[in-house]
Formats: sequence, structure tokens, C-alpha cells
Amino acid sequence: MRSQNAPPGLPRTALTGIDVDCTPRKFGCTALDLWKTAEYKQRMDISGQVVVVTGASMGIGEALAAIFAAHGAKVVLTSRDANRSEAARNRIGHAENTLALSCDVRNREDIDKVVSLTLHHFGRIDVWINNSGYGIADSVELMDMAECRSMFETNFFGAVSAMQAVIPVMKQQGSGTIINISSVAGHVPLPYSAAYSGSKFAMNAMSKASRIELRKRNINVLTVCPGYVRTDFSANAVRGRELKKVRPSTVRGITVERVARATLNGYRKQKREVIVPWTMYPVVKLYQLFPGIVEQAMLRLAKPAE
Ligand SMILES: NC(=O)c1ccc[n+]([C@@H]2O[C@H](COP(=O)([O-])OP(=O)(O)OC[C@H]3O[C@@H](n4cnc5c(N)ncnc54)[C@H](OP(=O)(O)O)[C@@H]3O)[C@@H](O)[C@H]2O)c1
Repeated sequence: MRSQNAPPGLPRTALTGIDVDCTPRKFGCTALDLWKTAEYKQRMDISGQVVVVTGASMGIGEALAAIFAAHGAKVVLTSRDANRSEAARNRIGHAENTLALSCDVRNREDIDKVVSLTLHHFGRIDVWINNSGYGIADSVELMDMAECRSMFETNFFGAVSAMQAVIPVMKQQGSGTIINISSVAGHVPLPYSAAYSGSKFAMNAMSKASRIELRKRNINVLTVCPGYVRTDFSANAVRGRELKKVRPSTVRGITVERVARATLNGYRKQKREVIVPWTMYPVVKLYQLFPGIVEQAMLRLAKPAE
């Protein structure tokens, strides 16, 4: 029998391990190994789970909504503009299992409205994805401070605000996952996008610290750090006065579908962090160990943007 606390597809036995019968160390495995395997198998089936995605009107957010819906989840797509959310909902299909709402993550009232409408329509929230975000292209010296604060309101405070709204719901349910879409720029400081990079460093810290705080409440916080992704992100960025790009022209970026697949996989495995593509992982490690080498490379690459 499924517990009231367990998300659909994840019975209480998988959460607690109560019904998992395993003699410790017999056949070369521990009870913990089998408990983890049982939980993983249950998480493979996400049908019926309820997923909310912020910034789902395009790009990575739309792809996340699409992949969860394709796997049978009930998905709420949100963005600042209800028409854009609705258009994305029509593109991904699965109309009977999806809902499109407007939500500007800078407004706590908007977030609370999404929480209560989702609970009203679908009864619970298993996964909340903080994906809304944009960049500012400018140097630290010249960037507009009002633009900088405004960007932090969306990229960082919007995500924190949503976490504060959804954590009590997940605590009451006895389970849940928060997925924060950060960036490799949250590990390696990006010149001429330093404020954006700063918002993602802040998100990484908040995301990983809260994971520890929430662990005993059966709530996982997953941080996803994509490298360059082919979206309208650059076109949607606020352009300042000193525009330079540090990306080699040969790097085209990965697809949104690849980010969505990696995120889903990380969710199923209840990971702490996903870095996608995997080739960015050595870059992150190189920066941690030998920051001077990465700084030199970026200095050489920095060219005026068209
Ligand atoms: N593209 C990349 O190379 C890349 C790499 C690493 C990380 N990321 C991160 O991935 C996330 C998605 O980026 P993307 O590339 O998919 O960009 P995008 O195509 O520009 O999409 C951004 C989304 O955020 C929404 N949004 C912006 N401000 C919002 C606000 N105040 N409230 C609610 N929604 C808001 C937009 O919807 P509306 O305009 O309809 O509100 C849109 O749906 C961002 O957090 C970004 O930092 C992107």
C-alpha cells in the first residue's frame, strides 16, 4: 500500500527501506546498497509526479517541462507572461497533464499563487525547478548597478523565495526535490559577465547548504550547472557598455535536450550536482587547482563582441 507521504511512483517502503529484505554483506552487498537500488528503481518511474518549472516559456525551462511531461509527470509551466507559458505548453503537448501559469519570480505573491494553484489542480508538488534567469553583459567597472540588483532579484532572490514557499509543502508531504538551474559560471568566474557569474556562485552556495539543512526531511536539492547551451540566452541578456566575449567561436554549445536529460538523470539518482556537458568538469577542477591557467586562457580569448 502506498503511503500518503510518498510521491507517486515512490512508495514509503522505498523511502524507509522497511520492506527491503537483505542480509548484510550476503552476496557481496549491504542492506544500504539494496535500499538504494530499490529507491532508484522506484524513482525511474516518475509518472504521476507533480513538477513545477519556472522560466518554462522557452529554452532550457521548456525542455525540462517537455522531458518530465514525456515521462508521465504532471507539469506546471510558468513564466512572466501567461501567453508565452501557454505557447510552450502547446508545443510540448500532453495537454491533459500540464498547466500554464504566469509567475514573475521577483514577486512572492506570484510564487504563492503558483503553489496554491498547483496544489488545487494536482494535489502535491514533488519537484520544483528554479530555472528563470538572465545575464548582464558588461564589465564590473561600467555595469549599471540598478540592472545588477534587478538581475539578482530574478536569478538569486527569486529562487530563494520559491524555496521558502515550497519547502513547507514538501515537509508536510514528507518528500520532495528542488532543482536549481545554475551554471558553470557559478564555479568559474566569467569576465564581462561577472554579475551574472556572481548570481550563480550565490545560487550554488544557497543550493548546496540548503541540501544539508533539508536532508533529514527527505527533501533533496539538486544543483545543475550547464556550460554553453544553444538558447536565446545571449539575445535576452542585458547589454551594457563594455561588451566582450570569452567563448571560442568554435564552441557552439550543447542542446537544451541534453541539459534536460542530464537533469532528469540527476533527479532520479538524487544527486547533489550535475555538470553538463561532462567536459566542463575538468575545467571546473582545473580552475579550483590552478586558477592562473584558466585566467590566462580567458584573458587570451576575451574579444570585443559584435
Ligand atoms: N543558455 C546557456 O548557455 C546557459 C548556461 C548555463 C546556465 N543557464 C541558465 O539556464 C536558465 C535558463 O536559461 P536559458 O538559456 O533557457 O535562457 P532563455 O531562453 O532566455 O530563457 C529564460 C527563461 O527565464 C524566464 N524569466 C526571465 N525572467 C524571469 C522572471 N523575473 N520571472 C520568471 N521567469 C523569468 C523567461 O521567461 P519570460 O521572459 O517569458 O518571463 C524564459 O522562460 C537560466 O537560469 C540561465 O542562467 C543558461
